[in-house]
Amino acid sequence: MITARAHTNIAFLKYWGKKDSNLILPYNDSISLTLNKFYTDTSVEFTSSMKEDEILVDNQPLTGSGLKRAKRVLELIRQKSGIKASAVVHSTNHVPTTAGLASSASAFAALAAAGAKAANLHLTDKELSILARHGSGSASRSIFGGFVQWHAGHDDQSSYAQSIQSPVNWDINLITALVDTAQKKVSSTNGMQAVVETSPFFPAWVKSAQADIEPMKSAILNKNLAKLGAIAENNAMRMHATTFGAVPNFTYFQPQTLAIIEAVRNIRKQGVECYSTVDAGPNVKIICASSDNDLIMEKLEPIMGHNQLLVCKPGPGVTYR
Ligand code: DP6
Repeated sequence: MITARAHTNIAFLKYWGKKDSNLILPYNDSISLTLNKFYTDTSVEFTSSMKEDEILVDNQPLTGSGLKRAKRVLELIRQKSGIKASAVVHSTNHVPTTAGLASSASAFAALAAAGAKAANLHLTDKELSILARHGSGSASRSIFGGFVQWHAGHDDQSSYAQSIQSPVNWDINLITALVDTAQKKVSSTNGMQAVVETSPFFPAWVKSAQADIEPMKSAILNKNLAKLGAIAENNAMRMHATTFGAVPNFTYFQPQTLAIIEAVRNIRKQGVECYSTVDAGPNVKIICASSDNDLIMEKLEPIMGHNQLLVCKPGPGVTYR
C-alpha cells in the first residue's frame, strides 16, 4: 500500500473552459501557487481479492462524477502497468471540500501519485501531471510545489504542468477569507461548460488569459508583487465576468465576497499591497506579503470573523509517506 500527499493550489491565472472534455484539455494556460495548508492524503493498494475498485473519501464511498473520474485515473494506471487487479483507495481531505478551495486538485494529484507508485510505475512528474489531469484539470498543477504553469497543449501528451519556481524564495502568501464552506451550487466543471457554450464573453476571456501568461511569469521571477497581484485580480474578475454573460446567467459571488473585494481595494488605496482572487465559489483569497498579514486581517475583521481568515503559505509538491 502506498500513501501520497498532495496539496491544493490556487490559480493566479485561471483555467476556465475545456476545449476537449474527455481528455480535459483547457483553452488557455494557467498559473497557480501550491499551498501549504490544504491537502489530501490518499493510499492505494491493488489487490486481486477485490472484484471492483473500492474508493472511500473521508470514510464515505465515493459516488457520481467523482467516482467516474477516480475510476478513469485507476483505469489509465492499469493500462500503463498491465495490472488487472482492482484497487482499494482511502482518501482523507484536509480541505473544506467543494467550497472553491480546490479539493479536487489535491485529491486527484494524490490519487495519481499513490496509484502510479502502488502499480510500480516509475513516472516522471510530467507524466504524473498528465495522469492527474484526467481526474481534474487543476490537479495537473498540484503535482508540483510553489508556482506552477499548466501548458494547455493540443493533445494528451502536450497538456501538462511544469514548475516555475519551487521553493518560492520571496515573501508572498495568501489570506483565505472563508465566506461560505457549504457545497457550491454550480461545480467548476458545470460552470465552465456553461460559459463555453453560452457566454459571448468566453472568447475574450481566453484571449486575455493567454496574454497574461508571460507577464505573470516575469512578475513571479522578478518577485514583483504589485504586478503579479494586479494581473491576478483582473484575471479573476474576467473569469467571473463570463458567468454574468452566460445563459442562464449565474455567479459565484455572495454579498460578502463583494464586500471583501471592495475592502481589499480600499486597503490597497491606503498603500498596502494586496489583491483579491476568487475561484468557482464565494471565498476570497487575498494575495499579499506575509509581513502585511496582521494589518490586512485587522482591517477585514469588521466584515469577517477572525476564525474565517486563514493564512496559507506556498507549499510543496507531491510527497510519499
Ligand atoms: C476556477 O479543475 O475543478 O478553480 O477539470 O472540471 O475538474 P475540472 O475543473 P477544476 O476547475 C478549477 C477551476 C478554477 C480555476 C483553476 O483552478 O485554474
